[in-house]
Amino acid sequence: MKIEKIFSLKNQVVIITGGAGMLGQEYANTLSVIGAKVILLDIKNKPVNKKIAYFKINITKKDEVAKTVKKIIKKFKRIDVLINNAALNPVPNTKESSQQFSCYENYPIKLWEKEISVGLTGMLICSQAVIPIMKKQKKGVIINICSTYGIVAPDNRIYDKGKYKSIAYATVKGAVPNFSRSLSSYLRNTGVRVNTLTLGGVFAGHKKDFVKKYSDRTILNRMAKKDEYNGAIIFLASDASSYMTGTNLIIDGGWTAW
Ligand SMILES: NC(=O)c1ccc[n+]([C@@H]2O[C@H](COP(=O)([O-])OP(=O)(O)OC[C@H]3O[C@@H](n4cnc5c(N)ncnc54)[C@H](O)[C@@H]3O)[C@@H](O)[C@H]2O)c1
Repeated sequence: MKIEKIFSLKNQVVIITGGAGMLGQEYANTLSVIGAKVILLDIKNKPVNKKIAYFKINITKKDEVAKTVKKIIKKFKRIDVLINNAALNPVPNTKESSQQFSCYENYPIKLWEKEISVGLTGMLICSQAVIPIMKKQKKGVIINICSTYGIVAPDNRIYDKGKYKSIAYATVKGAVPNFSRSLSSYLRNTGVRVNTLTLGGVFAGHKKDFVKKYSDRTILNRMAKKDEYNGAIIFLASDASSYMTGTNLIIDGGWTAW
């Protein structure tokens, strides 16, 4: 394949779950700019001023996802890429977010179940919905988003006293690489590739003290900028990664290297 073509996503139909979130929006804008047809799924209201296709749905509900995928196929005719990006990330200043930093002995079971449901069950449900389509096409890509905290344990020393990174978040993310491996193995010889993309922390207005502690833990001595994963998304979604399946691309400023 010509080198100009290998990164092309022109007219490729890409679904992003959690598409109204910080990184979902970032991927959506980038992929649209290079000519992909992007479709966002999110439980939140549609972000303002976005012309990108949007479905307000709960990805943990199998029937909602199935109905939506039917609509997508009717309109777009195919699905080339699914980015399983939705997860329960702490939203600052909400009750849920403060609960997500609870000590593990008292971690709220309801919250644990919700995090597993969004981060893992949603991942399975969305994959289940697109697999028959991708198999029929004999081509497709599924990218599952992981975190450094799915590779190593959270370093609770970087959080404020008495706050601990969600044990549910770490557990969910820890399962993602093996979800990808298992799905890739199941989909052998179908033309459907499945990979994990593992990210380090993105600066989003965090407190100075936290940024310093986080940065000290990385080799590059800083948090990520939100646009620093776009290249990896394009690589994994396109034919540039055509010989890659069942594996994990880790981009974390060196957090897990030492
Ligand atoms: N931001 C970071 O520093 C960072 C670091 C490592 C990994 N990640 C991972 O990247 C992904 C995106 O992170 P982000 O920072 O953009 O998070 P975010 O919270 O901004 O976005 C997540 C989106 O998922 C949506 N969502 C939650 N429950 C849903 C449901 N049931 N159905 C449909 N949508 C639902 C939310 O409404 C939100 O818009 C997550 O998987 C996260 O774990 C983020």
